Amino acid sequence: MLKYLKDLPPQLLKVIESAKLVSSQLRCRSYLVGGFVRDLILGRKNFDLDITVEADGMDFANLLALYLKAKVIHYHRFSTATVVTPEGFKIDIATTRKESYPQPALLPYVEKGDIKDDLARRDFTINALAIGIYPEREERIIDFFGGYNDILRKKIRILHDKSFIDDPTRILRAIRFEQRFNFRIERHTLRLIKEAVSLKMFEKLSIPRLKDEFILLLKEDNIIKIIKRVEELIKWDNLIPLVILTKRKIKFLNSIKRTIGWYKREFPHKRHLDEWLMYLIGLLDGLDKIHIDYFLNKFSLRKGETKRIMSYITRGKELIDKLKKKIKPSIIYRYLEPLSYEVILLLKAKSKEKNLNKNIDKFFKVYNNVRLNISGRDLKKLGITEGPCYQVILNKLLYAKLDRGLNTKEEEMRFIKNIIGR
Ligand code: CTP
Repeated sequence: MLKYLKDLPPQLLKVIESAKLVSSQLRCRSYLVGGFVRDLILGRKNFDLDITVEADGMDFANLLALYLKAKVIHYHRFSTATVVTPEGFKIDIATTRKESYPQPALLPYVEKGDIKDDLARRDFTINALAIGIYPEREERIIDFFGGYNDILRKKIRILHDKSFIDDPTRILRAIRFEQRFNFRIERHTLRLIKEAVSLKMFEKLSIPRLKDEFILLLKEDNIIKIIKRVEELIKWDNLIPLVILTKRKIKFLNSIKRTIGWYKREFPHKRHLDEWLMYLIGLLDGLDKIHIDYFLNKFSLRKGETKRIMSYITRGKELIDKLKKKIKPSIIYRYLEPLSYEVILLLKAKSKEKNLNKNIDKFFKVYNNVRLNISGRDLKKLGITEGPCYQVILNKLLYAKLDRGLNTKEEEMRFIKNIIGR
């Protein structure tokens, strides 16, 4: 067995064995390809199999699903399929294809091709390796472009000179892989990146494609190094007009990273954060509203994402001013409760003020967890007519509880009776 395959989980080996049987039965050549092969050689955990077949990928997927008692999802528009095994492994299956670009930065024309064509259309040599999973080339590494050596030498290398012109998102991918694996973009590739940037290739890309790659970039672990490398190779304002990576901005981004670390350590079970959005806000911070609106219009992020960005941009300063004072718990609660966790943490990352930090810590640790012992039902029992006043009364009670520490249900009832009396 190929040495790299030995450490895979048995269920995944079973998938590969079944794929070999399918290849034999359909008498076709099939290959493991893409990031899976790269990560296998690098010894990095990646259980998302990509299989490409020199035959109809859909037929292959159907039969493989039968062997594995798995589900199959077809994407007819792209002639691809995903097989999902009962254990939850996902196998993407496609037919080998050849691509040509009608115009720079537009989507390519696709036609049938063999494995060499299929590997030749890819971004970097390290992503253009395959492993044969059919009888004659069983478990042999197929390497037309020197990708194996590039992995050993830690190099990111493009396959052909027009690659970044055809698909400028690959510039972001080059930076992403370089920083993720601690590789280096080799000299010629670097020169081609600079050339594509000077030709303003990003402006020619469709926004959805740029947006997807851009978000993936911001989701990488090595985010600060990535952000600095983008400035070095592309300059941020080629991606977001007027964003300049000043020392002050880098300081803020580092502070965001530390604050996210604090949140995850202190509250491992609290809500997941959209960390990439926090870094994006860190990059946008300081731009005037017109330019942020322009960016948001162009990028058309989801509603919730846009809302969080605008909430920080329009209210951040004012909230920092308010929260740096010594204020009552109920006031802190009223300022912070309507905000998303991302925005609250950005306020903490932005300001060094002691009070603000204490107030936000208390909000997460105490105030946001306070629950009332009584509910609308108790108000009804007291004979209060149902209506919007319930919310008003319960809010008043909650604020009193935060400020004065009403502990028991009796104390809460007494408070309610008191305000009704008044
Ligand atoms: N690919 C490409 N050009 C792109 C995007 C993808 O050539 N703009 C190719 C690469 O060969 C890549 C494969 O398509 O390996 C699958 O794409 P994707 O899933 O994005 O890449 P992975 O290498 O699996 O990346 P990751 O590890 O981040 O999932």
